Amino acid sequence: MITLHDKSFELFIPAQDIQNCVQHLAQKINADFESKQVVFLSILNGAFMFTADLLKHITIPCEISFVKLASYQGTKSTGEVKTLMGLDTDLLNKHVIIIEDIVDTGKTLHAFLPCLKPTGAAAVHICTFLTKPTALQYPLTLKYVGIEIEDRFVVGYGMDYDGLGRQLDALYVLANN
Ligand code: IMP
Ligand code: MG
Repeated sequence: MITLHDKSFELFIPAQDIQNCVQHLAQKINADFESKQVVFLSILNGAFMFTADLLKHITIPCEISFVKLASYQGTKSTGEVKTLMGLDTDLLNKHVIIIEDIVDTGKTLHAFLPCLKPTGAAAVHICTFLTKPTALQYPLTLKYVGIEIEDRFVVGYGMDYDGLGRQLDALYVLANN
């Protein structure tokens, strides 16, 4: 059990299981994009740890870029997506792989994808570490998914509860009490 602010969280996915899953995802991407010009586009803040771990196992030539989007406050999505740091990389004719920590309602990526339309990217794919299938409210095609979880609030591995918990190397879930 760990405590962040006023809430208790229990261990959900151990660090080693996460690493195995991330390595597996990287192997699939290496195989699928062998001879393509790839740009990984990491969505900050949450995806920083997943991005770093995933990219250590990527063996194809690639670029990495970051944008910073925000939609969450506390343990709930606000429904409004803000761009706090925008795109600064040329994506023309490149294969973009968006890296997310978690796709919850899908609102963040649904709002962000149209921003990539004018870039002339050859294709845009989504790679997310986690997804909550029952919470999804927007049509999104998730090409690479690490782990599907039920609709519960999690922290760790880049994800936070009001700013805390991002540095944890395992995933923790809000305790039911
Ligand atoms: P969406 O727009 O509802 O899909 O939410 C996407 C963003 O909300 C993710 O990239 C996370 O940063 C954050 N988020 C969603 N679910 C959780 C959670 O269970 N814990 C922490 N952050 C979350
Ligand atoms: Mg995120």
